[in-house]
Amino acid sequence: MPDIYDKIIELARRRGFVWPTSECYGSVAGFIDYGPLGAMMKRKIENIWRYFYVIQDGYYEIECPTIGEESIYLASGHVKGFADKMIQCPHCGEYHRADHVAEDNGIENAEIMSLEDLTAALKDLTCPACSETFDGAEVYYFNLMFQTTIGPGSQRKGYLRPETAQGIFTDFNRLLRFYRDKLPFGTVQIGKSYRNEISPRQGMIRLREFTQAEAEIFIHPDHKDHPAFSRYADREVPLLSIADQENKECRKEMSMKDGVASGIIANEYVAYYIAQTHDFMLTCGISPDKVRFRQHLPDERAHYATDCWDAEIFSERFGWVEMVGIADRTNYDLNAHAKQSGDPFTVFIQYDETKRIRETKVVANMGALGPKYRNRAKAVADALAVSSPSENGAEIELDGEKIVVPPEFYEVKEVETEINGEYVMPHVIEPSYGIDRILYAVLEHSFDEEMVDGETRNVLRFPPKVAPVQVAVLPLMARDGLDDIARSIKTKLQEEEILTEYDDSGAIGRRYRRQDEIGTPFAVTVDYDTKEDNTVTVRERDSMMQIRYDIEKLPALLSDLIKG
Ligand code: GAP
Repeated sequence: MPDIYDKIIELARRRGFVWPTSECYGSVAGFIDYGPLGAMMKRKIENIWRYFYVIQDGYYEIECPTIGEESIYLASGHVKGFADKMIQCPHCGEYHRADHVAEDNGIENAEIMSLEDLTAALKDLTCPACSETFDGAEVYYFNLMFQTTIGPGSQRKGYLRPETAQGIFTDFNRLLRFYRDKLPFGTVQIGKSYRNEISPRQGMIRLREFTQAEAEIFIHPDHKDHPAFSRYADREVPLLSIADQENKECRKEMSMKDGVASGIIANEYVAYYIAQTHDFMLTCGISPDKVRFRQHLPDERAHYATDCWDAEIFSERFGWVEMVGIADRTNYDLNAHAKQSGDPFTVFIQYDETKRIRETKVVANMGALGPKYRNRAKAVADALAVSSPSENGAEIELDGEKIVVPPEFYEVKEVETEINGEYVMPHVIEPSYGIDRILYAVLEHSFDEEMVDGETRNVLRFPPKVAPVQVAVLPLMARDGLDDIARSIKTKLQEEEILTEYDDSGAIGRRYRRQDEIGTPFAVTVDYDTKEDNTVTVRERDSMMQIRYDIEKLPALLSDLIKG
């Protein structure tokens, strides 16, 4: 029996949402093509995302290359640590993700097991490809980045980006100037990311090329209050915190202000993006009872994160699947790029009032230094100024050599200075969305089958904002002027920026079914009465209710219904 996933994939292929890529050459696992309806629907989901992050939050979008030079990924830690555990079958030579094989065989927490433990756990298990045991094979790390070289004959290494985020981090100093040197500010990017997944076997869930929509919000490290928190303070969101998971409890609905006040959510920024993501998911058509926000357990977090919440949706085939990760990345990335590049990656925070601070200064006694160190006296004085002397003297480095300068060559003074600000390295809060997974989830949650007049009606109950076609205009017959009227209605709706399809082929019932199946929320039918009274039938997809409506008022009605 086909399950819902099989039905959706069959519908998606037949109706032009998603196709296997380069099918004529046998297609490649982990890559997909979006057909005409899928590409349109994907743009719509991306534009809803833009509404939340660019319009509502005011964060500008940037666009960086998908290939980055090696230094970026040396600094970010991806060259060293962006790897999955892999095992090669000693019999058939097939590669597998070791933790997936273990989990499929009921071994818990395989993702966080050491290589040795996983090798031992897999020893007696059998290869899913050839059913021989893995005995004799070792689990090892496989780096997921696609590597390339930049320029002909060049030894300059490059990588296809595994996340869009690094482009934003490496542009930090320019972005800071763009935002007039003030925190907080955010920048977003939508684009392709690449991961050479070992065995991409979950259709649109695990791809080798996929679209991410990421926001990087740069905040003062001591500021935990989001300036617009009130927008979402009362929003109730299903949470599954670390404590809930340890106690094997279920998700609970909690308002964001209670989440922060109780300490379950570490700060308002994280809470704000949890709630915003919830808002986004429901706007796209995700079922409210099939979404939850699960906090990462400490050993599950990425190397850069101190806290992370995943927005997960429930899929009948795949169970709970991560759609979005909301992470507190601290200053991990800016610090790493500062070290690798030598650029500052800091913000000068001006105080409201100047502060007087007492400082201990080591001041060289030049009269004593001169005769002893001669032309190196100035270098010694500079090194003393940044030294931390003890009772026996100050240890400094001179011409690569460590020497101890005795106390009679300097004086340690307490001085008072005025300062008007300080340099800080911002922390980063990152909501990171996987658009392909979200599109799949919207398909699954919108899909419905019902019996109508003894026949199965397939419906995609998309919200109008997500539907690739928003209105279908159907002349009852493709003659007697009905087709001309239908075409002129289509033009009027297009002028209202409504995505409209004209269809005159087949019986009207069949045409309704076709539109239901691609999720078109409204159909307008032109019939012989239209010629008499200038009205048309407007049919609503979900209820199948029909009303007669004046053609002149139609664009305004549909525009209201669609744009809401
Ligand atoms: N910048 C942070 C980051 O990349 P992530 O959790 O690795 O975090 C974010 O990825 C989102 O990207 C995930 O929640 C998921 O929706 C999507 N994603 C990650 N790997 C994917 C893959 N192989 N195929 C499809 N989507 C993927």
